[in-house]
Amino acid sequence: MLDGKHYINGEWLSSGDGVIEVKNPATGELFGTVPNGGKDEATRAVEAAAAAFPEWSRKTVYERSALLMKWHDLLLEQKEEIGRILTMEMGKPLSEAIGEVEYSASFVHWFAEEAKRMYGRTIPASKEGKRIQVNKQPVGVVASITPWNFPAAMIARKIAPALATGCTFVAKPAKLTPLTAVKMVELAEQAGFPKGVINLVTGSASAIGEVFTTHPDIRKLTFTGSTEIGKELMKQSSERMLNLSLELGGHAPIIVLEDADLDLAVAGTMASKFRNAGQTCVCGNRIYVQESILDEFTEKLAQAAGKLKVGNGLDEGVEIGPLVDQGGYEKVDQHVRDAVDKGAKIVVGGEGKAENGSYFYNPTVLSGASSDMLVMNEETFGPVAPVMPFKTDEEAVKLANDTRFGLAAYFFTESMSRGTYLAENLEYGIVGWNDGAPSTAQAPFGGMKESGIGREGGQEGLEAFLETKYISIQV
Ligand code: SIN
Repeated sequence: MLDGKHYINGEWLSSGDGVIEVKNPATGELFGTVPNGGKDEATRAVEAAAAAFPEWSRKTVYERSALLMKWHDLLLEQKEEIGRILTMEMGKPLSEAIGEVEYSASFVHWFAEEAKRMYGRTIPASKEGKRIQVNKQPVGVVASITPWNFPAAMIARKIAPALATGCTFVAKPAKLTPLTAVKMVELAEQAGFPKGVINLVTGSASAIGEVFTTHPDIRKLTFTGSTEIGKELMKQSSERMLNLSLELGGHAPIIVLEDADLDLAVAGTMASKFRNAGQTCVCGNRIYVQESILDEFTEKLAQAAGKLKVGNGLDEGVEIGPLVDQGGYEKVDQHVRDAVDKGAKIVVGGEGKAENGSYFYNPTVLSGASSDMLVMNEETFGPVAPVMPFKTDEEAVKLANDTRFGLAAYFFTESMSRGTYLAENLEYGIVGWNDGAPSTAQAPFGGMKESGIGREGGQEGLEAFLETKYISIQV
């Protein structure tokens, strides 16, 4: 049993209204607890971060970077242990969980380096004796709310740039998966960050979220989660004009043109669709295939999906773990039933098993999908791949863009001109061209439309934690 705690001003604390039980979605077993903190804990954490800010922000970027690099090294040294915790609390296969820890560490590495380049500039003035300087400075105390599907990476990609620029931080991990974050913060403490620079509070999302959106010391809120909660946080924080980064829901199209390398298209679709059992904001949700290759593509995809090994993520060779909870399972099953009622055919999968607190759904490929089906209109967040035919490139773009979401889109073609047309006309923040796995620390990750505001990763991910100050000097 793991006994997680809050980390506030350099101390491990267990105050709050009882505890939150953390259960393994592969077995239903209880394997840890964290305190059910609320307003008091969040307020103390924000105050600790505010007190630590002046000294932390005055350190040189080289000092901050050195600490981040120590944290990075510890994360990699302990990636197996963190990976095990991650698998046990959210279900993804151990190899994927360890991969997620490596992915997390890559953000820490990238931002430790990139912060050395947070340059300002001087601008030639139009009047004699004037000097125009533009400086960059950290926004201040940052709060984060992160989701259960990437319990390590989503925190790392927010904390690392914030600390690198000189901000201090209060993190609130998801209720279902807080123990990975607790372990990561333990390692940050070992790396030697001064007290108050990183704080972690577990517990009630509404009580803690309210402090994050209303406390006068908070200068930025960075959130990954559903569009609905993102809108709620935006409303709550409008009174304070809070600086927001919102990485919200997706509903990614995958378009396969007739000239695609089919094996590459199937491999890319598998990588995008079935990573984390389809519980990924950027994963392909609906697949549009050009008519002439529809049957061949669907058959190959179904063959590959049918081979995936489903089971407890700690078991050798498992590629698809459980869905995270009952609600997740029911949504996936509802999407499949709705599609079948409206005329789709199950080519492979199409059912699951939810019993005694474990929620497995078999990788599913549906043919004959149509635009009136739930699965073609909403994020499924599960291992379901609906395939629908299209005739022309223009039609594919129209279908792909016909949504309020705009996070990620994918397409497969060997044609430079057709690919350029798609890349330029898809209304998405991330586009994978012959690539089902575009996420990386060096690139800006984020969405258009109702998929969010701001970018994480890359130079843009650093900029998100900086204020721009213009200094006009008369000499
Ligand atoms: C997400 O689901 O939001 C994160 C996935 C990624 O970083 O690729």
